[in-house]
Amino acid sequence: MLSNQASDGKRTSLHGHWSSRMAFILAVTGSAVGLGNIWKFPYIAGQNGGGAFVLVYLICVVVIGMPVMMSEILIGRRGRRNPVATMELLGKEEGSSGKWRWVGSMGVLAGILILSYYSVIAGWTLAYVVKSASGAFAGASAEIVGTHFSSFVGNWKLVALCHTLFMSLTIFVVARGVERGLEQAVRFMVPALLLLMLLLLGYSMSSGYFGHGLRFMFSIPESCMQLTEACPLTWDSVLAALGQAFFTLSIGMGAIMAYGAYLPEETSITGASTAVVTADTSIAMLAGLAIFPLVFANGLEPAAGPGLVFQTLPLAFGQMTGGVFFSTIFFVLLAFAAWTSAIGLMEPAVAWVVEHFNRTRAQGTVIIGGLIWGIGLGSVLSFNVLADTRFFKGTIFDNVDFLTSNIMLPLGGLLITIFAGWVMCRNSTADELGSSGTLYKAWRILARFIAPIGILFVLINAVTSS
Ligand code: PHE
Repeated sequence: MLSNQASDGKRTSLHGHWSSRMAFILAVTGSAVGLGNIWKFPYIAGQNGGGAFVLVYLICVVVIGMPVMMSEILIGRRGRRNPVATMELLGKEEGSSGKWRWVGSMGVLAGILILSYYSVIAGWTLAYVVKSASGAFAGASAEIVGTHFSSFVGNWKLVALCHTLFMSLTIFVVARGVERGLEQAVRFMVPALLLLMLLLLGYSMSSGYFGHGLRFMFSIPESCMQLTEACPLTWDSVLAALGQAFFTLSIGMGAIMAYGAYLPEETSITGASTAVVTADTSIAMLAGLAIFPLVFANGLEPAAGPGLVFQTLPLAFGQMTGGVFFSTIFFVLLAFAAWTSAIGLMEPAVAWVVEHFNRTRAQGTVIIGGLIWGIGLGSVLSFNVLADTRFFKGTIFDNVDFLTSNIMLPLGGLLITIFAGWVMCRNSTADELGSSGTLYKAWRILARFIAPIGILFVLINAVTSS
């Protein structure tokens, strides 16, 4: 194994460093902002009844997501290795045990599994770039857009082809390494995406159903305020909200830890985390606000599932002047956003293979990428050939999604906060977070008590109630 201890005793990363604080924030934002915000958030909120779900999600983001993210970054920066080696190293260094590496291993596995289906959905966005550009949606009705979607996902060969294309793009960037690959991919994507979301929001506001959308997203049913039986929010929905908070912030699986390993000493972890969480949450809210009014305006179903965004947005663009252009750009940006997230999903596994098996970065990337591609075929087939093969939570796609977002990420987050809050000594964490003031105290209370207890509470209730 390689050592990352420099002669002056300071640890450095074997994979290079971010060129600046901004580069780090951009990369983490690029990892956080992705299909989770624009594709997943609206459909999960739709399936779980809107308002009450959104509120729980927002609470999870602030009181659980934020401390987990800070813990991950500080652990990553202290260990400066891949998540498995970092957890092992710090576990020993802090006088606990090297067994903490299993938290890293679970993260590596979660990343592989998430990317296996993430790449399939990202493949859909690639196909939608071509469809948009060809004018397929110009002036199309809800019915035509719906038929386009179902005939596309029904064609497994085409879906597999798009999945292959997307995985190849991801392998290409990850193989090039930290500074050249990751940084450049992110710089323009987030601001451009934000602009297009604003354009969509403007259109949505003029649809005449903006109030409906707003109410769906933010009004909490009376029955939930009074905590009566009639409240539609089940423990399953609360778990889905928690899982979505983890998924959208890219936390609980070591992606942020791996990025933290490349973070310069002097950067403020609190500042960077706040910036990322704010950007990520705003984009998800914008996506919801743009999509739900369109859903109601066109008589669509909020609980339509994974196809929701692919059925509402082309419809909106189809009716706009310049729609072909904007729609094409939108799906290009969405594919970009997915791409920068996919990089984060692969990074822990690749860094691990490189360090553990002494491989080159290119070799590691191809091995892991090939594995993910193969597993992804299960999700490709979940929307066509194997659509009726259902067990436990549904199709293969449904199960991989449930297992990763709702179980593995929260479990990873739980262990990460316990590690940062209880196993690491106060000096180590204060050293990384750089202050002993109110902010540090707030983090410590959240990481030691609120986040772990909250996660456990939701997990236990969801498991025992279903
Ligand atoms: N946060 C990404 C998204 O919202 C998905 C992701 C999860 C990326 C975990 C990296 C790690 O699309």
